[in-house]
Amino acid sequence: MKKDLTSIADLNREEIITLLDEAEALKQQVQQARVVELARGKMGVLIFEKPSLRTRVTFERALHQLGATSTYLSPTDIGLGTREGVSDIARNLSRWVDVIIARVFEHEKVTGLAASASIPVINALSDTEHPCQILADLLTIRQHHGTLDGVTIAWTGDGNNVCHSLLLAGAILGLKVNIATPRGFEPNNAIVQKGKGYAEKSGAKLNLTYDPCAAVQDADFIYTDVWASMGQESEAEQRRQIFRAYQVNRQLLARAKPTTKVLHCLPAHRGEEITDDVLDGPQSVVLDQAENRLHVQRALLARLLKNG
Ligand code: CP
Ligand code: NVA
Repeated sequence: MKKDLTSIADLNREEIITLLDEAEALKQQVQQARVVELARGKMGVLIFEKPSLRTRVTFERALHQLGATSTYLSPTDIGLGTREGVSDIARNLSRWVDVIIARVFEHEKVTGLAASASIPVINALSDTEHPCQILADLLTIRQHHGTLDGVTIAWTGDGNNVCHSLLLAGAILGLKVNIATPRGFEPNNAIVQKGKGYAEKSGAKLNLTYDPCAAVQDADFIYTDVWASMGQESEAEQRRQIFRAYQVNRQLLARAKPTTKVLHCLPAHRGEEITDDVLDGPQSVVLDQAENRLHVQRALLARLLKNG
């Protein structure tokens, strides 16, 4: 495995599957109170330029469960790239701690940290990708579907950071991913091309469409996310108009199979990209996704920080 996880494409198929297996095994250990402190004495630093509930709490909890400690640096604490350059921050932290977990606006900040740090750097969400989210989603999909083989996932909404990581993961693993966005909100073309390259080798099918009904009809899972991501708040009102037809509601769900499950990375804007009845309904697996953040990140940290 590479030193860093800045993109889900830093992992190959075998590495993703192994991480999911290890996440399951560590989950069992925790549930049976047989926790092995695989990273005792290590320390992780969380550098967050954006707010977070799930990512912050699950990373800190995972570090502590592994016998490591953590410190959290909020957006105003260090001024990543303003008070001090990304490279200087990375080289200082490398002398004191064992892993950097960074949530940033520009993706180049997380790759810049990785390039200058001698310790692992994990992308905890950038404007371009959210790899840890997708690892948790893959674990959730496998738990509910029994296997990742032959699974079809439909994305409806914005072609954003979560969509990019999903597209790449699907392409690497050989899944079918249908992505429905409004015109002008398609996933980044460079990422689509990269995904197509992986798909040629893995047999994955990537379908881009503007029609959410077409995207969901053969889907085992329907995935959506907020229409305006963190940093796009000023566009929220305009986006509410543009994305209306992409809402995951009872009507859209009726176009899919009765067994189709619904995914959302959370936080949700209830009544916008998803209705209350669907988010809280029997087909929703969003809290399993949230729980699985803890398990996959514990497995990832164990792999990167393991003593000896
Ligand atoms: N899904 C997710 O990353 O949630 P937070 O923004 O709360 O960390
Ligand atoms: N696309 C969302 C994901 C939040 C977890 C955002 O970037 O705000």
